[in-house]
Amino acid sequence: MNRHPGGIEHTRRMLEAAALPNGARILDMGAGDGEAVALMQSLGYEAKGIDLAPLSDLVQQGDFLCSGLPGEQFDAVISQCAFFVSGDVPKALGEAHRLLKKDGLLLLSDVFFEDPAFLLQGAGFELLCQEDLTPQWREYYLEALWREDAVSCCIPRGECSYRFIIGRKC
Ligand SMILES: C[S@@+](CC[C@H](N)C(=O)[O-])C[C@H]1O[C@@H](n2cnc3c(N)ncnc32)[C@H](O)[C@@H]1O
Repeated sequence: MNRHPGGIEHTRRMLEAAALPNGARILDMGAGDGEAVALMQSLGYEAKGIDLAPLSDLVQQGDFLCSGLPGEQFDAVISQCAFFVSGDVPKALGEAHRLLKKDGLLLLSDVFFEDPAFLLQGAGFELLCQEDLTPQWREYYLEALWREDAVSCCIPRGECSYRFIIGRKC
């Protein structure tokens, strides 16, 4: 079961918005149970995932803050509700940047405490598009509380939003 607002349908929308070519190499950073990896593979992408605590064989164990994977090998990196959970968003963005090929795309759905354009610029990305999903995130959060699953989605404090963004490696 995925653990981000909008579920697998939103993952599909992110991929549609990115319009990656068939066979594109994609890494899911914080892939959880691998549902997004399975979707991407079914759509013809060469997808893999890493997670600190993988929940399926589709996902390899690894820390996306220092993955140890060779750099400049992916056409796109996707991450849903995981960079914030890692506790070090700038480091996660830095690792995504290192792993992407030139002009590679970052597809991120996550909690933001600052202007995504500013954050991405600092990490060497150009912001191509963004969508505010804060209302869906609030709904998702209430459902998670109801399921007593709130720990796994953390409790952010302060002024924040939940956004879907696409950035391009400069
Ligand atoms: C809220 S879950 C989201 C999982 C998946 N992306 C999804 O949407 O279903 C956050 C995931 O990030 C993973 N994670 C957090 N920090 C990580 C890190 N430094 N390296 C790898 N995975 C990490 C957690 O283990 C967890 O599976």
